[in-house]
Amino acid sequence: MTDFINFIKTIAREAGRIALTERRQFDDARIYAKGTDTDLVTDVDRKIEKFLFDAIHRQYPDHGFYGEETGITRPGSEYRWVIDPIDGTISYIHDCHFYSISISLQRHKKNIASAVYAPKLDELFHAAKDNGAELNGRPIRVSSRPTLRTSLVSTGFACVRAKLAANNLAKFARVVPKVRAIRRTGSAALDLCNVACGRFDGFWELHLNQYDIAAGQLIVEEAGGLVTDLTGGDHVPAEGTVATNRLIHNDLLKLLNDGP
Ligand code: 2AM
Ligand code: CA
Repeated sequence: MTDFINFIKTIAREAGRIALTERRQFDDARIYAKGTDTDLVTDVDRKIEKFLFDAIHRQYPDHGFYGEETGITRPGSEYRWVIDPIDGTISYIHDCHFYSISISLQRHKKNIASAVYAPKLDELFHAAKDNGAELNGRPIRVSSRPTLRTSLVSTGFACVRAKLAANNLAKFARVVPKVRAIRRTGSAALDLCNVACGRFDGFWELHLNQYDIAAGQLIVEEAGGLVTDLTGGDHVPAEGTVATNRLIHNDLLKLLNDGP
């Protein structure tokens, strides 16, 4: 396991260096629309994913790979790497701080070792199954705030950008008056890590993909938090993603399910 963790931390930092270096000479000609005019990718997303794919393939040639830009290779393998080369591409395009590289190693589809690195913040989160979670080498824990009223909660609007009718706006309007305050980073992976280290007490979002949340989910769980779908079950992220410090989980689920 130590070998996996050291490898993940090394490639996450190297990928972060590529992101920062490329950003120095970035311009809008490097942006491409994937499906809709709000679902964007840059050549840097692709470059980082290729770097990660090649590094992983060299080190672990028989492992599978599931990347946002590449799709799935070796679907039946015992070990699989779930990668989002840039989570928060819009932030990257606008040179905001809140984007990250998300890498999770799964065994039989369960996360066993994960890292999320935010290069512009120089924050490296990682976790290993049953071994805790760390931020820049120091152990992290979820918060101990017990009520929504005292909680800082975050969310995101992937579904709005995907132009889905069942979007998050009604839920957002219900939650805002009940919590201390709300934030959105635009990177689901970083939102989860912010729950893990106790800055945020909770997070929810709809219509995320595996590669957005795989690494962050293990980091939250290893920091003592809880990640479920909107019904409290384990169909994450297909049925929604809710991550908390455990203490506010039921109250947040109730509020989210109390209407459309
Ligand atoms: P991305 O930057 O890798 O695309 C923010 O709300 C979260 O939603 C991010 O994790 C972002 O990941 C994801 N996201 C943004 N646009 C999306 C879309 N059109 N469909 C699905 N997920 C999206
Ligand atoms: Ca991405």
